[in-house]
Amino acid sequence: MTFSRREFLTSTATATAGAALGSVPALAAEAPGHKAALPVVIASSNGIRGVKVAWDRIVAGEDTLDAIIAGVNIQELDPDDQSVGLGGLPNADGVVQLDASCMHGPTRRAGSVGCLEDIATPSLVAKAIMDYTDHIMLVGDDARKFAIQMGFKTQNLLTEKSRQDWLRWKARLNPGDAWLNHDDDVKIKFTTGTINMNAVNAGGDVSSVTTTSGMAWKVPGRVGDSPIIGAGQYCDNTVGAAGSTGRGEANIKVCGAFLAVEQMRMGKSPEQALLHVVERVIAMTEKRLLGDNGRPLFDLDFYAIHKDGRFAGVSCYEGGTFAVCDSAGPRVMTSAYLYKASERPRR
Ligand code: GLY
Repeated sequence: MTFSRREFLTSTATATAGAALGSVPALAAEAPGHKAALPVVIASSNGIRGVKVAWDRIVAGEDTLDAIIAGVNIQELDPDDQSVGLGGLPNADGVVQLDASCMHGPTRRAGSVGCLEDIATPSLVAKAIMDYTDHIMLVGDDARKFAIQMGFKTQNLLTEKSRQDWLRWKARLNPGDAWLNHDDDVKIKFTTGTINMNAVNAGGDVSSVTTTSGMAWKVPGRVGDSPIIGAGQYCDNTVGAAGSTGRGEANIKVCGAFLAVEQMRMGKSPEQALLHVVERVIAMTEKRLLGDNGRPLFDLDFYAIHKDGRFAGVSCYEGGTFAVCDSAGPRVMTSAYLYKASERPRR
């Protein structure tokens, strides 16, 4: 069963006073949540194919990080997923720049890559940085050079569909410029979409990975939350893992994945932990990104898994979903949320 944060709060006697925007009320009781027998894999909902691949590999004995990276590779290599890897929507210059990071719980290691061009699987590049260097993060041209040295193949990541979307966006930027609108009737796409995946195996080992093409039409060089360890994903083998999709700028300021894991460490359920994180996000949001009703103008979704098999997805607004796979098979589940869909401000 999924509750909005405020439905939960109004069901408790003590918490309603704290429900005002920007405050972080103390929870009076355990929020409801989900629990699976181990192993379990969760992801953003675009990972519905990947969670099954990862789960099968974990059951076959593969390491949790290798398994979830194989899971997210499906989206990275899918030209139709315009939020990740090959076919991702490009930056303002029409160049696809990718971010990714990963963490391996049992060995307490992390790897990250930012602003990577021409290589479709930044999750694997992040893991190569973790496996083959004394560093955690490489960016830009030098990250690309490193990947080539590690044997990754380069390719043009801008698909024809994404190039057409970019041209449309560019043509409509300024009615006075020399770029003509060629198809006003086609909606301009925008995404901060991403894939995050987290897993716990039967022995309680945990891993996490997040990979993205970032915010569509971003300023070249922009890095979002996905490659920031502690924001886009985080795992601690003694607790669990968390990650996010959506507006990275909002998440970076609260180190959302780290905060979620720390909240679980302090005893909150995954759902309680993520609701706390989303509240912190809203409390830290600048006014220009809030509607007149104080609700955010953006989407941000979080996913968390506890090493005991409890898991949750939480969104700013009603309507969010996430993917999970356990022995019952892969399925999409409804996320808990902070605000009703009807509260979403018109832009
Ligand atoms: N969460 C993906 C991004 O903002 O880049």
